[in-house]
Amino acid sequence: MRGFGKSWFREGSLLAEFGESMGQGVRQQKQALALNAAKVDAELASKAKSEFIANMSHELRTPLNAIIGFSDMLATKTVTGEEKVIQYSAYIKQAAEHLLALINGILDVSKIQAGKLSVDPEPISLAHVIESCLLITDAKAKEKNITVDSIVPEKMPMLLADPLRLKQIIINLLGNAVKFTPEWGKVRLEASVHTAGFATISVSDNGPGMDADEVDTAMSPFGQVDSGFNKKHEGTGLGLPIALALARLHGGDLQIHSTKGVGTRVSIFIPLAAAAPSAPPPSGTHLHQEPRRLS
Ligand SMILES: Nc1ncnc2c1ncn2[C@@H]1O[C@H](COP(=O)(O)OP(=O)(O)OP(=O)(O)O)[C@@H](O)[C@H]1O
Ligand SMILES: [Mg+2]
Repeated sequence: MRGFGKSWFREGSLLAEFGESMGQGVRQQKQALALNAAKVDAELASKAKSEFIANMSHELRTPLNAIIGFSDMLATKTVTGEEKVIQYSAYIKQAAEHLLALINGILDVSKIQAGKLSVDPEPISLAHVIESCLLITDAKAKEKNITVDSIVPEKMPMLLADPLRLKQIIINLLGNAVKFTPEWGKVRLEASVHTAGFATISVSDNGPGMDADEVDTAMSPFGQVDSGFNKKHEGTGLGLPIALALARLHGGDLQIHSTKGVGTRVSIFIPLAAAAPSAPPPSGTHLHQEPRRLS
């Protein structure tokens, strides 16, 4: 042990030594933490990559096998009767459309991540957009006996939005609500004017809901709450992060309110055509997760 004698005061060496060793300790600790964080990051990235590859190969294989199987049957004339031929051709078309949607999703995500996706806003009628979205999700809702109510004020002002991209967002939100809500469930699409120069469009359901961690998963690219080989629902896990990025490209936002076992409400904020918004998009309360950017 070193005593606090004269030499310590004279040279200040103990203080310097102490400072030096403390500094070194802190540096080592920081390095160890950084190394650990990098390791955790790498492990997470690798896990996400493996999950993505597993999901993707499943997503690609299913429609591809359907296309090969049904076209084989048509080519070898194993199928007889006009009705069956029409039915099998429809299956092939459905599978091909699914593949196209998948590839479009992947392209959208890579464009968003490269900062290359842009929207082309114009004054549009929300009622028209909603009508065409409901037409697309109607069949699936009927199949599951899910009622879909749509409430749009009669005097809803025009929005300033890219019609195709807004449709893409709403179809995903309605599609999710119908897909994840069990039979006989209720889905509701509601639009209203927000004071800050934005319209709010929200889709709510009384489906399974999500806890905070699950919302976090849902908002990350390729993130699905029910993932893996045994998952019950189709999809790539790209819809919500793309919807968030698209809402933000419009100058708006997307928020999720969800309660496990109760239901989910996803709201988007899109600028009104009349009032070019100067204020930031509204931010909600009771958020399970702050909306965030794609990383
Ligand atoms: N309304 C909802 N109720 C319960 N879970 C939901 C709801 N919406 C989304 N989720 C969860 O969030 C995940 C991500 O949703 P997202 O729309 O990004 O992907 P997806 O619907 O699985 O696939 P995709 O939209 O790419 O076809 C879903 O897989 C599901 O687990
Ligand atoms: Mg989806």
